[in-house]
Amino acid sequence: MPCCPDQSSSACDDTSREIRVSTASGSRSPLPLALAWIEEELNDLSTRDLLRKPKLRTGRQGRSVVLDGRTLVNFGSNDYLGYAGDVRLIKAASKAACSEGFGAGASPLVSGQSQAHRKLEEDIALLLQTDRAILFSSGYAANVATISALVGPGDLIASDERNHASLIDGCRLSNAEVLIYPHRDMAHLETLLSGVKTARRKLIVTDSVFSMDGTRAALDDLAAIASKHRAIFMVDEAHATGVYGLRGSGLVEATGTADGVHVRVGTLSKALGSAGGFVAGPSQFMEWLSHKARSWIFSTAHPPAVAAAASCAIQLLQREPSRRIDLLARSREFARRIASLLHDDAFAAWDTQIVPIICHTAHAAVNMSLRLAEKGLYVPAIRPPSVPHGKSLVRVSLSSQHTTEDLENLALAVHAVRGSSC
Ligand SMILES: Cc1ncc(COP(=O)(O)O)c(C=O)c1O
Repeated sequence: MPCCPDQSSSACDDTSREIRVSTASGSRSPLPLALAWIEEELNDLSTRDLLRKPKLRTGRQGRSVVLDGRTLVNFGSNDYLGYAGDVRLIKAASKAACSEGFGAGASPLVSGQSQAHRKLEEDIALLLQTDRAILFSSGYAANVATISALVGPGDLIASDERNHASLIDGCRLSNAEVLIYPHRDMAHLETLLSGVKTARRKLIVTDSVFSMDGTRAALDDLAAIASKHRAIFMVDEAHATGVYGLRGSGLVEATGTADGVHVRVGTLSKALGSAGGFVAGPSQFMEWLSHKARSWIFSTAHPPAVAAAASCAIQLLQREPSRRIDLLARSREFARRIASLLHDDAFAAWDTQIVPIICHTAHAAVNMSLRLAEKGLYVPAIRPPSVPHGKSLVRVSLSSQHTTEDLENLALAVHAVRGSSC
């Protein structure tokens, strides 16, 4: 059976790689007149240090990574538990691909839902202890579809100013009125909601762990405010699934707020090392969503192999709790080290695996990232539109695969280059 459990297997050989690289290299045809404005816009992005180019990765994600041909210690992935390159996920995916084929071939409603998908939905519901879960091809698709299914014109959404782009886009697509509250400012949120005269439905939406700056939402306060104002409370656990809670289901579990959270969204693409998104909740809600969530109805299910890999990661979460325990312990240790080296109290009680080093300007963030790369450390610069102008940063993403020595080296390197970069 042609499966590829490890990189030495000949089934993994990519014989087309050279052809692809040579056809894709450097060709630049002139822009048609109708698109000529693009050149000017690209030049503008370039002068403002906002031009982005994907780096080419060779091989798997892991403690270290090969990017554009250079091996660097990897502080730039969301593979928090080291499962993205884990041979057990690869084997699970290969097995499912061998039995169910690679492509799903249709949307879930038509014929795209395989046994691997169904099993994963059950695994997620069990992990989150909800009635049911439904899968989406990405976390982005799950957020956009869920928000625009829940609310519409005449409704109101309260959204944290630092929510992820997929939540923002869902708010926009819904055509509901959107009130943005300052980051984690509960008093402001309360004032905004108290001022609302009429709204058919209200929705409060937040990341649980904020993707770019690593802060945590005050889920208990938000749940209380939602309850007081009879609002639906939706939490995006993208960076918390797999990392927080005794079972590893997320920050809702860790903070004991499941009863006050009505809609839990997550992704399988980060700590679970696979791909796809999910929404979990009461079965009637899931059933309703399957009639309203447009990216679920009108999009092909993601490949069964991807679902099987995610199920495998959920099993491993239960067998290997030490990965998330170690990750969070090391994250706290690293942040404390940074707090003392940079004399910055903001990090003294840090408690997530995402540690931002604020650089303000895009130029400074790019410069710092380059200086760290010179020391063999990959820490990406995060610039607008991922963060607001003036709030650029380098984002340290920690993984259970990092060693204590990796973290000490990074802390010392950040200290050494920060003065001259940020
Ligand atoms: C907070 C948050 N929500 C949702 C997503 C989207 O998840 P996915 O990558 O599975 O589309 C991301 C991804 O970056 C994220 O950071």
